[in-house]
Amino acid sequence: MTLLQIQKRTMTIAGSVLSVYLLFHMLSNLSFFFGDSFNHFYQIYNSVWIRWPVLAIVLICLWIHVRAAVTIRRKNSQARQVGYKKHDKFQIPASLVTISITLLFLFIIVHILQSLYVNPLDVRASILDWFSSPFITLFYLMGVFILVMHLQHSLINVLQTLGISSKMHHIAIHSVVAVLALGFISIPVYVWLT
Ligand code: HEM
Repeated sequence: MTLLQIQKRTMTIAGSVLSVYLLFHMLSNLSFFFGDSFNHFYQIYNSVWIRWPVLAIVLICLWIHVRAAVTIRRKNSQARQVGYKKHDKFQIPASLVTISITLLFLFIIVHILQSLYVNPLDVRASILDWFSSPFITLFYLMGVFILVMHLQHSLINVLQTLGISSKMHHIAIHSVVAVLALGFISIPVYVWLT
């Protein structure tokens, strides 16, 4: 196996761990709509033996994923003397991809920093406080939007690498990502509407 293949595999494994975390985070956040369950969940989750190890795994995977992605992109652009032939007119410019991935990374870092300041005894109140600001609400909606774009693009790429490119699989990816996005935006939208 070549070094490039190892890097691609490492990036995919780290990305898969992050996707599992995202699904878990979104599903647990839905407890926001069930009375005290949200605060109860975070009281258990915030115990030293759960929260910090989870955060450490997320940060390590994020680091591995970003590093591998940067290395692979650099190698690809060095190897490619002639640009790819344009197959469709909706091809996204490389600079836009770089900007969106940088913004997604910044969103995750800002969100982690903000999550360090929530009141552990009343996480629900802290969330209500976050989304009482239209600026923060917009920031989260933008973060989830970029996340959706990134997940759809990368999950379809992973399937293609595995030799799977049927329409049914594409529909499945679009549906899972749409459910993830709806779950995440449901809280800011609910707070904003009520
Ligand atoms: C938009 C709705 C979201 C809400 C309401 C939300 C809420 C929270 C809360 C309450 C915490 C932890 C606070 C605590 O432990 O006391 C947290 C942590 C975290 N969130 Fe989110 N989050 C949202 C979206 C996201 C998204 C889209 C991502 C990733 C792209 C993300 C990634 C993380 C990470 C990595 C942590 C730190 C690890 C942890 O404590 O679990 N969150 N979030």
